Amino acid sequence: MNISLKSPQEIQKLKEAGQLAAEVLEIVSPFVKPGISTYELDEICFKHITENQNAIPGNIGYNGYEKTTCISVNQVICHGIPSKNKILKSGDIVNIDVTVLKDGWFGDTSKMFLVGKSKPHNEKLVKVTQECLYKAIEIIKPGKYFGDIGSVIQTHAEKNFYSVVEDYCGHGIGKVYHEDPQVLHFGRSGTGKEIKEGMCFTIEPMINQGSKYTKLLSDGWTVETKDGRNSAQWEHTIAVTASGCEVLTKRSEENF
Ligand code: MF3
Ligand code: CO
Ligand code: CO
Repeated sequence: MNISLKSPQEIQKLKEAGQLAAEVLEIVSPFVKPGISTYELDEICFKHITENQNAIPGNIGYNGYEKTTCISVNQVICHGIPSKNKILKSGDIVNIDVTVLKDGWFGDTSKMFLVGKSKPHNEKLVKVTQECLYKAIEIIKPGKYFGDIGSVIQTHAEKNFYSVVEDYCGHGIGKVYHEDPQVLHFGRSGTGKEIKEGMCFTIEPMINQGSKYTKLLSDGWTVETKDGRNSAQWEHTIAVTASGCEVLTKRSEENF
């Protein structure tokens, strides 16, 4: 378990990939409406990456995965496979997770969408999950610990009577898609490895309305909540700086 430290030049390359991934979420956004299939949304992302960005969809070929994005609706926690049969309807909550590979570097990010007329309980889940990510980003700086990230997320989720998924985590990222460390979204402050300048990793909390337990469907990818209640996720790729961190996958709608 060896966490690599990236140079400013390497972080710049990672940022270029991250910015392309962020752009994909921005361009697909107006299409996330009732009646569209998750297959069509995936195609829009594929075309943008390959035709406009001259980049590579980072998920294709990863452990045999065949799509550009993971699109996870309602009780699907993560790794939903885009499908012609999955048509979005009003009231759905949807996560689109995209990874772009540019010049050998990976950028990985995801966001939630509320489809059509949203329900207050879903709006709250989506908002609190985003706050979990933002609160973690706020505390990151050299000298903090990975346990601090988990603690901030778990505390905020549980304060709102939600649970944190423990079976999947964030990860180091660079020229390798998933590298050390594993970034847990739960834990105790002051525990785990120390955070250092130059570390680059994702934070991608998955927060459930009900219990934390997951089940893997027979397609080998789709992860759902065991109790069938909804789940939300937001993901950014960040680089640790001397005084804090830089969000490499920042979208223009965000202020960090
Ligand atoms: N993007 C996911 C993550 O945040 C991983 C997706 S792997 C895939 O780490 F193969 F399902 F695309
Ligand atoms: Co990730
Ligand atoms: Co991702």
